Amino acid sequence: MNILVIGSGGREHAICLKLLQSSKVKKLYCVPGNAGIAEIAETADIAVMDFEKLIKFAKKKEIDLTVVGMDDPLCAGIVDEFEKEGLRIFGPRKEAARLEGSKAYAKELMKKYNIPTAEYEIFNDAAKAKEYIKAAKYPLVVKADGLALGKGVIICSSYGEAYEAIEKIMLAKEFGKSGDTIVIEEFITGREVSVLSFCDGKTVSPMSSSQDHKRAKDNDEGLNTGGMGAFSPSPFYTEEIEEYCVENIYKRTVEALNREAVEFKGIIFFGLMLTEEGPKVLEYNVRFGDPETQAVLLRLKNDLVEVFEACIEGKLNKIKLEFEANAAVCVILASEGYPQKYEKGMVIKGLDKFNSADNEFYCFHAGTKKAGAEIVTNGGRVLGITAKGADLKEAVKKAYEACEWVDFKGKYKRSDIGKSALEARGR
Ligand code: AMP
Ligand code: GLY
Repeated sequence: MNILVIGSGGREHAICLKLLQSSKVKKLYCVPGNAGIAEIAETADIAVMDFEKLIKFAKKKEIDLTVVGMDDPLCAGIVDEFEKEGLRIFGPRKEAARLEGSKAYAKELMKKYNIPTAEYEIFNDAAKAKEYIKAAKYPLVVKADGLALGKGVIICSSYGEAYEAIEKIMLAKEFGKSGDTIVIEEFITGREVSVLSFCDGKTVSPMSSSQDHKRAKDNDEGLNTGGMGAFSPSPFYTEEIEEYCVENIYKRTVEALNREAVEFKGIIFFGLMLTEEGPKVLEYNVRFGDPETQAVLLRLKNDLVEVFEACIEGKLNKIKLEFEANAAVCVILASEGYPQKYEKGMVIKGLDKFNSADNEFYCFHAGTKKAGAEIVTNGGRVLGITAKGADLKEAVKKAYEACEWVDFKGKYKRSDIGKSALEARGR
């Protein structure tokens, strides 16, 4: 088969690598890709939102299956457009992608079908929202309804902060139309867990769990980022918790969609908070997580092409997902200054230390590009150094060891990926 992956991050690099393990893949393409992906797949410089060009490309290259890594094209309806042209594509249609594209829609669905989540109110009118926060309990969380590059969630510890958040999202329109509506949510606490799952419209098959580290600095300080590192599995996500989630969250979500006559085929990413009252849904995403995918897919034993095809054909119940009984850790090497201003174009050295035949150490590229004979930095998150180990402790040690193999000016990383999990377990 000829397969096309759409995206340019570490997540897409990990998806490409996993796809290449399948004997079904004849030729792999990734658009637009990055310097690391270009070493294992044919890349082309087409914008991910230019559906017309992507469709032309898919036809010209006789693509049998397209896989979409990113949220923007999914929420804008890339799957509907490809299907109209008779092209096979893995991912939810526009209507189903609202699970991520509209937080208000997701919250209303959860409420209607009794899926555990934080209490909330929805507002389309800034004046009413400002009135509501006068008597609200703090901290609370103000969220832009639509996509906002992961920046549309503001945790407010006082009335003043909430007032400012409403102004920023609804009036200054910092996230554009995504802020026409907001959700104001109860602040909940606990361990966060990411569970990515495959869904074929009827069956939902959760993958092994993982945990992201969203803040820029150690000890969860600093600004929110796309994610500074991840590990899989999460030691906090016990079998008992998983059983609860399967019945009360995963299956119920798919049933809810079905009852609303929405067919969901693709990835449902459950962002969970393990609270004292039990697991609650923080958010849904409709795609693989980044950097969770880098850690999770390395441990998946199944042929990924077969799983994608089973989802499209509604035969996921025929597949049993299997994961290696080890751990994987991904540490992001970022450009100093990220998620704010940072420099690009720094030469990256030491990449040759990663051997593509290696089964323990991986260097997933995110913001990188080729410049002559060199590979240079081209984004905030540059590389995802990932290692497998017998357990979390060993995987952490190996990932950090490999972080020293590469260097570029302004290289920045968190030094505590997986640390709090190791400490909590040691107690
Ligand atoms: P979201 O994009 O909705 O997952 O929010 C991004 C991050 O904000 C989450 O990963 C949590 O760390 C935090 N967050 C979101 N909603 C809440 C909430 N209701 N209570 C506490 N933290 C939250
Ligand atoms: N790592 C969180 C996300 O992909 O949204």
